[in-house]
Amino acid sequence: MGSPTVKELLASTAYDTNVTLNGWVRTKRGNKKIVFLAVNDGSVIHSIQVVADPTKFEEELLRSVTTGAAVAVTGKLVRTEGRDQPVEVHAEKLELYGSADPASYPLQKKGHSLEFLREIAHLRPRTNTFGAVLRIRHALSYAIHTYFNDRGFFYLHSPIITGSDAEGAGEMFRVTTLDAVNPPRNKKGHVDFKKDFFGKETNLTVSGQLEGEMAALALGKVYTFGPTFRAENSNTPRHLAEFWMIEPEMAFYDIHDNMDLAEDMLKYLVAYILDHCADDVAFLNKMYDQELTARLQSAAASTFHRMSYTEAIDLLTASGKEFEYPVSWGADLQKEHENHLVDHFKGPVILSDYPRDIKAFYMKQNDDGKTVRAMDVLFPWIGEIIGGSQREERHEVLQNRIREMNIPEESLWWYLETRKYGTVPHSGFGLGFERLMLFVTGMTNIRDVIPFPRTPQNAEF
Ligand code: 4AD
Ligand code: MG
Repeated sequence: MGSPTVKELLASTAYDTNVTLNGWVRTKRGNKKIVFLAVNDGSVIHSIQVVADPTKFEEELLRSVTTGAAVAVTGKLVRTEGRDQPVEVHAEKLELYGSADPASYPLQKKGHSLEFLREIAHLRPRTNTFGAVLRIRHALSYAIHTYFNDRGFFYLHSPIITGSDAEGAGEMFRVTTLDAVNPPRNKKGHVDFKKDFFGKETNLTVSGQLEGEMAALALGKVYTFGPTFRAENSNTPRHLAEFWMIEPEMAFYDIHDNMDLAEDMLKYLVAYILDHCADDVAFLNKMYDQELTARLQSAAASTFHRMSYTEAIDLLTASGKEFEYPVSWGADLQKEHENHLVDHFKGPVILSDYPRDIKAFYMKQNDDGKTVRAMDVLFPWIGEIIGGSQREERHEVLQNRIREMNIPEESLWWYLETRKYGTVPHSGFGLGFERLMLFVTGMTNIRDVIPFPRTPQNAEF
């Protein structure tokens, strides 16, 4: 089972017993008489202090134990009095797994900028900041599965490779094994995708929703949680080309049930992180964002304000504020508009019933002929964190909309067929995992909440 983790040792009361621990040296200080090492193994934000008497160890070994080196330490677990850390380890044995040349090791004791750390994404997990972010990322994933499992949802593995464009926005990465320089061509001179691996054009999925709907129409309540891909050239602090999305889909839910679920789930997740990641949140609060904890507490306790898109447009217009993008009914809301709304209501806002022309083909049409049963959740600090809707369950209405929008109907035959056989009202939404990570960590750039970000012109590591 391996040696105890630093987290376990710091919580241990087995004083004066012999322990062995493994980790990486964060700092080393001392003199000829005594050496102090701070050793961290990633299990917790804190390092454990190792105290060594230099006369007990070979000089060469001690010299190699520098910041970044990987070590095994065996010694006595000693209770400390009146200091930050409850215990320290008095080293009897010291082993070096791997040294880290101080002349070139990039993570020195002084703080580094987040921009610099992005360039060394292979090493940044060893910093306090990214240790905290990655532990919170884990806890948030676990909480999502727990939330759904406890409420009778089934986890669905939707495909990554698809032949359809779920959002109809055309922002897809192609998947092909055809020769890029000299692809096979048909009689018209077009690339012959019949000769491609799948015998048709395929791409990386932008959303697991369509397959999620198929499963919901059999299992009732399902969710997906997987990577999604968008080839949109958006170089912003809130967009990734590869991001993770959680997509619940529920049969017999209307848009109000859908909003209730979205609100309950977000509050649960924020409260979960406050409860289970207190040390990491406290660290991020101290280092980056002194309002983080307060903002999380406020969101967890809030009631999300609900209003229609049309009411939001009226409110924005009545504000008299000069926006960079003018407000007009029919136009998509920009970040500045979303910010104004969450500031106005001092908390999360759910907007519904958007103009149909700015939303996807699958949303349920309202009777007014102008709007659809869409709902977006806007969060303070983030903007849009969730996008969802009640789905169009009427075969004819859906088919007409697909034709109207010039979406290749043949790629969606299976989707349309579920509206012919036992169709029911149903709803769902997509939660951007990294957007929620931004909110719970207080980080300001989405590149800093995913281990290895993929953005335009960047797929290193
Ligand atoms: O609003 P979107 O595009 O909705 C869908 O994909 C639907 N199929 C969801 C559904 O109803 N099942 O995306 C959903 C969420 C957004 O609200 C945002 O949080 C996140 O996914 N998102 C992104 N996150 C990071 N980078 C990007 N490029 C993102 N695009 C969307
Ligand atoms: Mg959206």
